[in-house]
Amino acid sequence: MDVDHLPTEISSVLLTEEQIQERLEQIATEVDADYQGRDLLLVGILKGATLVMADFVRHLKSHVQMDWMAVSSYGSGTQSSGVVRILKDLDADISGRHVLVVEDILDTGLTLSWLVRNLSTRGAASVEVFTLLRKPEAVKMPVSPRYVGFDIPEVFVVGYGLDYAERYRNLRQIAVLDPRVYGG
Ligand code: XMP
Ligand code: MG
Repeated sequence: MDVDHLPTEISSVLLTEEQIQERLEQIATEVDADYQGRDLLLVGILKGATLVMADFVRHLKSHVQMDWMAVSSYGSGTQSSGVVRILKDLDADISGRHVLVVEDILDTGLTLSWLVRNLSTRGAASVEVFTLLRKPEAVKMPVSPRYVGFDIPEVFVVGYGLDYAERYRNLRQIAVLDPRVYGG
């Protein structure tokens, strides 16, 4: 799906396909160098990180393994409480493994800081985070991602795995949703 097909609901394109792929390639080069000679397990967070993961692993030169988790944060309305429930746990035992969590977007950071703590208690050799996008609020969080694709403004974005009510995940670009779509 391309933004050309949704002119009324998308107010602007924030990141083009080319910008996303170029940045993924740069980060893949860093990850290849940083984990040289080590056995790396990438943990994707469903469902948003599926597209990032699919493209990112193909830019890597090293062999990696992939696993997936699905989590949901409890909260009132749109506010994340930081209390997280695991909907789908890892298949792999991560004790002694080098883990890199792959996430689509860091907003308040509550979900991810819980997740990093949870994975750290399982005896991993290391737990680091790669997030494609980071919003300003996340900068204040205690756990900082080792790799950040793009710092973006405080706007609601869709596309490239990110949804609004399960729509727009298959958009090739990352776009700003027109606030009128969600009554903002
Ligand atoms: P935290 O705990 O960091 O939660 O506040 C991050 C999660 O919130 C969702 N999120 C978004 N989803 N467009 C989206 O499609 C956005 O602009 C956006 N901001 C936050 C997302 O599920 C992420 O994992
Ligand atoms: Mg989501």
